[in-house]
Amino acid sequence: MEQVVIQIDGNEVRTARGNTVLEAARDNGIRIPTLCHLDGLPDIGACRLCMVEIDGRFGTACTTRVRDGMKVRINTDELHEMRRTVLELLFAERNHVCSFCVSNGHCELQDLACELGMDSVRVPYRYPTLSLDATHPRFIIDHNRCVMCARCVRVCAEVEGAHTWGIAFRGTQVRVITDLGVDWGNAETCTSCGKCVQVCPTGAIVLKGQATAEMEKHPELVAELEERRRAG
Ligand code: SF4
Ligand code: SF4
Ligand code: FES
Repeated sequence: MEQVVIQIDGNEVRTARGNTVLEAARDNGIRIPTLCHLDGLPDIGACRLCMVEIDGRFGTACTTRVRDGMKVRINTDELHEMRRTVLELLFAERNHVCSFCVSNGHCELQDLACELGMDSVRVPYRYPTLSLDATHPRFIIDHNRCVMCARCVRVCAEVEGAHTWGIAFRGTQVRVITDLGVDWGNAETCTSCGKCVQVCPTGAIVLKGQATAEMEKHPELVAELEERRRAG
């Protein structure tokens, strides 16, 4: 496979042509924080946590393909501050109260807060009034804990082929919806496969009957399914 040489934080690294900056970094053992990215799903650049500097401009590592001679910066004070601010905005936007969440201790948002040293939120919380839909026999969606990563939308469309999840409205009103806005329990396209439960990075989509901190997920199943599909 043809290789491309780029610089990451001043060091020359090689990666396959066509890779993203995120893949190039990972190939070379360099971590870039991500939230909406999930191996096996197409990237959409929704969360902005993977922000890096590319040839002097800010861009998302998960959606930018490498070019010969590209200069990428990942570990700068400015970028650390930007990632922390993005995370704080996510926490302030909805009602992420970890202490009584079924995903407490198994949540990618919480893990990122620890990793990025987010010990406080410096913007006012919005405390929106958001609904919870428990009409599906096995699953629940709690919009209070959604970060709009659209992993559920992508896995349902691209892997399961059901196209149950969609995105409605804009700005602060933006929501994931099932079958153009019916309750999940009435969404005829849903096969109840549970893939959206497994990929949701927070406690937004969970199994029914879980107590606080009980819900563990397996988002890696998407990459495993993709590998099996490729192997035929
Ligand atoms: S359970 Fe499966 S089919 Fe139903 S919404 Fe989730 S991913 Fe789509
Ligand atoms: S419900 Fe979960 S997977 Fe879907 S957009 Fe919200 S946080 Fe992401
Ligand atoms: S991981 Fe790149 S924008 Fe979310």
